[in-house]
Amino acid sequence: MKIVKTIKEVRAQVAEWRKQGLTVGLVPTMGYLHEGHASLIERSVKENDRTVVSDFVNPMQFGPTEDLQTYPRDLQHDAMLVEQYGGDIIFNPEPEEMYKDGFSSFVDMTVLTQELCGLSRPVHFRGVCTVVTKLFNIVKPDNAYFGKKDAQQLAVIKHMVEDLNMDIKITGCPIVRESDGLAKSSRNTYLSEKERQAALVLSRSIDLGKNMVKNGEKDCAAVIKAMTDLINSEPLARIDYVKIVDEKTMQQIPALDRPALCAIAVYIGTTRLIDNFFTEDI
Ligand code: PAJ
Repeated sequence: MKIVKTIKEVRAQVAEWRKQGLTVGLVPTMGYLHEGHASLIERSVKENDRTVVSDFVNPMQFGPTEDLQTYPRDLQHDAMLVEQYGGDIIFNPEPEEMYKDGFSSFVDMTVLTQELCGLSRPVHFRGVCTVVTKLFNIVKPDNAYFGKKDAQQLAVIKHMVEDLNMDIKITGCPIVRESDGLAKSSRNTYLSEKERQAALVLSRSIDLGKNMVKNGEKDCAAVIKAMTDLINSEPLARIDYVKIVDEKTMQQIPALDRPALCAIAVYIGTTRLIDNFFTEDI
């Protein structure tokens, strides 16, 4: 397992693999890796001859008041985890390697990004689409792996690949959770002990919503109300959104008459956490 800092080195390594006829999987991450990331690496290692894990806290996807400066980093620990799960390269560029002076080209998306996290994070998906496009162009993988934890991101990337004819298969992987239900996230490290306990309200409301849908509830408003009431019963929680959208278009729907995504974003103290379920996975 190698840690690579430059685009030139990654390209040279991938070219060598290509010469040998090997397939390549890419797992894009912002580092501080946990079992959620590990599940993507594991899947890529299973399905490809070689796996590149990118480890880059992408400044472009953070808003001016967001947590770019405090975002947790631990390259040594990341390297151990990638090695353990059989990845071949960590691509860990400096911001200047990715964004040279005068950088001025962007990949953006309408419609899908105008709901859910796109509303409270207006520059986020432009940053994600741009950096993921760059990573795709640098690594040129056959397959790329994304978590359902960031469900809107997964939908946006799938749509981008289709719109822009990128020849890469996108695979969405299930949410990995702590034993008490909290979805694993690099941002969980911001939580105090009390907040960590309060954060369980997210997965509890997800379970509640899932059960209602499982038992035949078709009215989105009823599901949203029950989940909202539960979250509001936790004093440390403040809802950003609780919504049900069409799985493909990310537009809100009134009834569960098609594959849908139920997604929530909740502040626990100052930490913004997300969780969700796809009706198709129930
Ligand atoms: P990051 O938050 O590091 O997540 C990297 C990948 O891991 C994403 O596809 C995310 O959905 C997945 N992931 C995170 N937590 C997970 C969990 N508990 N279970 C399953 N998968 C999980 O998402 C990003 O980075 C960035 O936006 C990126 C795509 C790298 C672009 O900068």
